[in-house]
Amino acid sequence: MTSIVPARLLDGAAVSKTIRQRSREAATLIPGLPPSLRVFLVGDNPASQAYVASKSKAADEAGIRAETRRLPADLSAAALLAEIAAANADRSVDGILIQLPLPRLHDTAKVLDAVDPRKDVDGFHPENVGLLHQGRPRFVPCTPAGIIELLAAYEIPISGRRAVVLGRSDIVGKPMAALLTARDATVTVCHSKTKDLPAVCREADLLVAAIGRPGFVTREFVKEGAVVVDVGINRLTSQNAPPNLLRSERIRRTLEEKGRILVGDVDFDDIAPVAGTLTPVPGGVGPLTVAMLLHNTVKAAGLRS
Ligand code: GUN
Repeated sequence: MTSIVPARLLDGAAVSKTIRQRSREAATLIPGLPPSLRVFLVGDNPASQAYVASKSKAADEAGIRAETRRLPADLSAAALLAEIAAANADRSVDGILIQLPLPRLHDTAKVLDAVDPRKDVDGFHPENVGLLHQGRPRFVPCTPAGIIELLAAYEIPISGRRAVVLGRSDIVGKPMAALLTARDATVTVCHSKTKDLPAVCREADLLVAAIGRPGFVTREFVKEGAVVVDVGINRLTSQNAPPNLLRSERIRRTLEEKGRILVGDVDFDDIAPVAGTLTPVPGGVGPLTVAMLLHNTVKAAGLRS
């Protein structure tokens, strides 16, 4: 049976605005130089370029000095490590962000390990990952941290609920599971090898979709009234749109008019009548990732020695 009450939308853009404002005020309280962020963008991945531009603009607006180092895709591993070592040693740099994915030539783990854990505003260094999993977080990865802020802003309870995280990436799935566990949810992490994925997801009071597959989560994955958080950001054209999404008049019309559309991992139009609460794409989780980066950068400035 489907609900007659339309799903409630969580406005990530609005919550992000509040966090950005809070970060701006906190930035003014840092003694000495304003907080600063050095971003490394290696190669010319168009999505990464767009993300870095929006992070940099948001930092500026929050009174954070952001500097983007654009490096060629064929930069040697040694040269990238030397850049990171220089940022680690530079007392005027508070936060360091390596935009991912890196070009294939680079060993991502080795590069992330090289970042000073006290400047690791992405929370990807093993020291910060360990602290998070021990329940004493320092820098928490921005996307899952933003999702927790979003749920808190809408007073959505976590404790005692069944949560299913779809995707086990180091950036979203794993830290999301750790944060939900720390808040007393009963958490299941699903992935490509999970048997009967829709049935496992249907157990969820809270479903977080972070698998990078456009429109993958359909009605059969969603329990009636569930909270569904869509982390996906997929750029679609009519060539690569999955057939289920093309059933949506809204998506077909946008593709006809603009030739492209941004969609999440959730088939929004399909699940909207079933889910109780859901996040839109764009305007859901995306803006929170940026806001939490500002939060983490101001925190890094507070750790200056
Ligand atoms: N690529 C996709 N998401 C992220 C993120 O949160 N941080 C970085 N550095 N790269 C990403």
